[in-house]
Formats: sequence, structure tokens, C-alpha cells
Amino acid sequence: MALLSKFDDMRAALQALAAGGRNPFDVRFEKILSATEAVLEGRPCLLFGTNNYLGLTFDESCTAASVSSVLAAGTGTTGSRIANGTYGDHVLLEKRIAEFYGKRAAMIFTTGYQANLGLISTLAGRDDHLLIDADSHASIYDACKLSAAEVIRFRHNDAEDLARRLRRLKNHPGNRIIVTEGIFSMLGDSARLREIASVKREMGATLIVDEAHSLGTRGKNGRGVCEDSGVESEVDFVVGTFSKSLGAIGGFAVSDLPDFDLLRIACRPYMFTASLPPAVVGSVTAALSRISTDASLGERVRLNSSKLYRALAQEGFAVGPEPNPIVALKMPDKESAVRFWNRILEQGVYANLALPPATPGSLSLIRCSISAAHSEAQINRALSVMAAVGRELGILNPGPKKTLAQAAERVPA
Ligand SMILES: Cc1ncc(COP(=O)(O)O)c(C=O)c1O
Repeated sequence: MALLSKFDDMRAALQALAAGGRNPFDVRFEKILSATEAVLEGRPCLLFGTNNYLGLTFDESCTAASVSSVLAAGTGTTGSRIANGTYGDHVLLEKRIAEFYGKRAAMIFTTGYQANLGLISTLAGRDDHLLIDADSHASIYDACKLSAAEVIRFRHNDAEDLARRLRRLKNHPGNRIIVTEGIFSMLGDSARLREIASVKREMGATLIVDEAHSLGTRGKNGRGVCEDSGVESEVDFVVGTFSKSLGAIGGFAVSDLPDFDLLRIACRPYMFTASLPPAVVGSVTAALSRISTDASLGERVRLNSSKLYRALAQEGFAVGPEPNPIVALKMPDKESAVRFWNRILEQGVYANLALPPATPGSLSLIRCSISAAHSEAQINRALSVMAAVGRELGILNPGPKKTLAQAAERVPA
């Protein structure tokens, strides 16, 4: 049997997708013009699918810090944090992240994926129980595979289901570790953290919240949905990424746990990979300082998100459950999603095509991410392109414009 024959179905699916116009897994930006524009297929294109929530990739203080770090310390560390890969600036960034969250300690990782992989798989040992939201990101699922703990999925954002499953563990030994996300990456809905934190308290569990999409975009001080929900003191570990609001790459975990630093010599995805290069550490440190000192970044991304979400709903799109910097459009089926994605791209709007099995509830989605750097004109342009293509494909709610609640309900999640 051919080595890759196990991927025959995948190959056929990819060919079918590419036959719809272009391969969505092979989009190439020929030139990046700014945080919100690129050249694609020889034409300028608006970026509505890059997770550049605060538009900091071209922020002057971030690019300058990155350039001076690379000149001062070189292009890479050529080693792991526990060998030759810890520089003073890694330690400084960890200190800044811990201060930002008001927590005792922080650990930085080379990607956000590795932060979840490392923290979750290291904390959850053989007799422990991992309780994860069913709609969790792949990095959380992969962490479960790497962990020796029992893995239990609870119904998406359902604190009662979580409590029920925890009750069933009553006479079992081991720690109970709950994992959820601040904003969920596909539909853009927020975790019901107040309810989940209250279950955690009642049942004596540990709570990990992945704020990948909510750092900088939610909370008065940018500390995410935990801050917004008033549950920061109940959350044992916050995990996050540098690849979205902070405009670079990398990940982190923060905690008040007294022995947190012990994880540095127990966590394989931290120990057995090279540390972040100086250029990244420099720009992330500057980006964190921007978030800490400029509340208008978060305010702008929330305003822009709400504007686009409401306007798309009013046009008759079936949108995700709430306005957040991820705005999901639920398409009636996979074929419509592929056509919609190709048509808006041809008209200079790039968003993400998200299809099953990568989506919750087997939904076919167009996933938009909104930035504080989007101008009103760019938002209006994206809206008018999407509305025109929606009408052309006949996928908008017919008749009188719907209320937001009706729009969110049109295709059940
Ligand atoms: C919820 C969530 N956690 C973790 C990650 C991984 O982050 P990174 O891409 O920075 O490795 C992502 C990436 O999209 C994500 O959506």
C-alpha cells in the first residue's frame, strides 16, 4: 500500500476545493502593504482574515524594537531555554507579561500552539482528569493526546454539563483540570467564564483559560475575557499567543502557582525546542507596552468588530453569536462557502474559508477577523463586497432585514 494512500480522501477533497477557483490552503500574498492590505494575484486586497487584531505588525515602536534587537543579539538563539537559549530579554519579557496579568510568574514558549501543548500535557498527569470544551482549538486537543490524563469533553460553553461530568468523577483520585478559551476561534463566541469559574470553585478544580483571541481585544486593560468577566482571581493559568494581537509569534502561560518555575524542567515542548529569536522578543515586548499604555487600540477593535458584525447581520447574513473580533458568516453549505470565498477574493477581500471537520457543528464558515487598524472605508468596502456576493449567490435572508438575534439564529450552531 502506498505510504500516502491514507490521505486519498483528503487529496480528493483538496482537488474538489481547488476546482472551485483556487486552493484555499495555498494563498500567497505577493507583498504585504500594511496591517490591513496586501497584494494578492497581482491586485491590492483588503485583509479581513489575518488575526492582526490591533494592527501592530507595522507599529513603529514594534518594528524599531525588533530591528534593534536583531542588530544587538543576532538572528537566532540557536538553542533551548534550558540550555543556551535564555537571554536577558526572554526573562524581561516574562517579567512584563506576569506584571501585565498581575500574576506571580510567566513562561514564554516558541508558539502559542506549544504553550497549550506544554502547559496542559505537563500539568495533567496519569491519574488526573482533563475536562475540555468540545469546541477547543487543535492545540488543546493535541495537548490531550500528549498527556497521560483521562480526557473528558464537555458540551460547548455548557457549565451544567461540565458540573455533571465533574460529579461523575466523585470517588476518583487525581486532579480535575478544566480547559476553555476566552473567545472561541471559529464562531467568535465568548466563554461563559463566570459560570465555569463557579463550577470550578464548587468542585475544587484547576482552571486554564486560553486567551489567544482575547488578549488586547477584551477587558478594560486588555487582559481578555477573564478580566471582562471579573474572574481573574479564579483562573489558575492564562495561556496566550504573541501571534495575534501582539503581531509576532510565540506563546505564554501565566500563573500565581508558587512552584510554577518547576515546569521549566518538566515541560517537553518548552525544553526541547529553540527559544524565541531576539527580533521577536523585542517586538513582543514593545507590543505589550503599547497595549498596556494605549487603551484606544482595544476600543477601536471592539468598535470596528461591532460595526461589521451588525452591518453584516442587517444585510441578512447568518452571523456568529456575538460581536467579537472574529466575525463568522454561516454559509448554507460547503459549496456556497467555497464560491463565496472565491468571489470576495476576486473582488479584493481576503477572509478565511473554514470547513468541516475544522469547524464546530460541521458548519461551513467564512471567518473574518477585524483589526483596530481597519479604516471605516475598508470596513464599508468589505461589507459592500460581501453583501453583493451574498445577494449574487442567493444566501442572504430574504424579505425585510432581520434583527441581530434572528440573523444569529438562521443556521443553528
Ligand atoms: C485558541 C487558540 N489557541 C492557540 C492557538 C495557537 O497559537 P499560535 O498560532 O500562535 O501557535 C490558536 C491559533 O490560532 C488559537 O486559535
